[in-house]
Amino acid sequence: MRILVVGGGAREHALLWALHRDAPEATLFCLPGNAGTAQLATNLPGSATDIEAVTAAAKERAVDLVVVGPEAPLAAGLADRLRAEQIPVFGPSRAAARIESSKRFAKALMLEHGIPTAHAEVFTDRQRALQYLDRHPEPVVVKASGLAAGKGVVVCETRSQAKDVVTAMLAGSLGSAGSELLIEEYLEGEELSVLAVTDGEHFAMLPPAQDHKRIGDGDTGPNTGGMGAYCPVSIATPELLRRVASEVIEPAIRALAAIGAPYTGVLYAGLMIRPDGTPAVVEFNCRFGDPEAQAILAATPPGLLPVLRMVAEGGWMPTGTRFGAASRAAVTTVLAAEGYPNAPRTGARISIPPQVEASGDVLVFHAGTRREPDGSLVVAGGRVLAVTAVAGDIAVAAARSREAAEAITFEGRQFRRDIGYRELGRSRHLGIGDREQRTSGQESGDR
Ligand code: AMP
Ligand code: GLY
Repeated sequence: MRILVVGGGAREHALLWALHRDAPEATLFCLPGNAGTAQLATNLPGSATDIEAVTAAAKERAVDLVVVGPEAPLAAGLADRLRAEQIPVFGPSRAAARIESSKRFAKALMLEHGIPTAHAEVFTDRQRALQYLDRHPEPVVVKASGLAAGKGVVVCETRSQAKDVVTAMLAGSLGSAGSELLIEEYLEGEELSVLAVTDGEHFAMLPPAQDHKRIGDGDTGPNTGGMGAYCPVSIATPELLRRVASEVIEPAIRALAAIGAPYTGVLYAGLMIRPDGTPAVVEFNCRFGDPEAQAILAATPPGLLPVLRMVAEGGWMPTGTRFGAASRAAVTTVLAAEGYPNAPRTGARISIPPQVEASGDVLVFHAGTRREPDGSLVVAGGRVLAVTAVAGDIAVAAARSREAAEAITFEGRQFRRDIGYRELGRSRHLGIGDREQRTSGQESGDR
């Protein structure tokens, strides 16, 4: 079997790792990849968003399956183009990917189908937006409707800050992504990422994960693409997951099918679990989460590839397809470059002590890394490495992930030392070792 993974982040490295685990004999390619993916796959040159180049590479290498990591190529129609060439691809069509690429589209779909979400209004006119803000309670969330690589959402403490953000976005600070924006009600609660693999009709949920969006410990500072994640998450009880399945995932899949844009691939529901325990959608994504995928794949047993392949080949997932529970706990700590998220500085030399990678329970997934001709490893992007530790419980996994992150050095490195802190607070409260409580929710969450 020959598989091409499109993308070059730690999510793609983790996908390759999981595919290799399922099919050690498979020949793997990654476009464009990074220094880490080169250990498992042949990196192909080019850009993930160059649809023609990716399609040509898939044909030239005669691949049996393409797995698309990031949203941008999907929003640009990569899956449609590959399907037109009869190349099996795991990832939604351009029309279905609008659930991520247009927040206005996603919001309208949710409203129409009764999917719980924050109230929002859409604006393209500055004057109207500013007038609307005058009557809006604080805090308030301003969101660019289009894809903005994680920079399109600002949670504003005050109306005055929101007005500045609206003014900047409509003046083009995010290019065309911000020419249309949403002013959204602020939701209180705890975030949860629920990912479901779907063939357009049936679906199976992966064990949920929790991301850490802010750059600083204790959730301080600006939002990032994600500074760490863990899996499993004990707030994801079987009851909550049943609600998420019936109130969020299932209606979204039905709604897309009903408008002639059936969704195949992985549907990511970014949820806020409100203080009363009810879920509300913060966003949908049309792909695996990054860094959620690193923690989820490391925590779950093998078996992803057959399902991905079936969906990519246009088959139905057999009734009762499940990924099962997280069999272990995984914690991912992201190491980011100096200046990330605003102005990451590249070029610093990275040192990974051999004992970190030699430990079977620590997986160092690469993101923005590059191998220089002299063999040295250097920083080549904002998020650099996703250090994932696997253990019997979150406390041990979190400690190992943090220790391994600490041992890896490069100039200006930034990382959070508190990944999983909410879960650790809960397990302290419950008493560590209360495995039944900790893993509840993972048992019957899949459908
Ligand atoms: P998004 O790109 O839509 O996931 O938004 C990025 C982050 O902003 C989310 O993960 C939340 O932390 C935060 N956020 C977005 N929308 C809201 C909201 N309505 N209320 C509170 N926080 C939000
Ligand atoms: N970690 C958030 C995302 O993948 O969108």
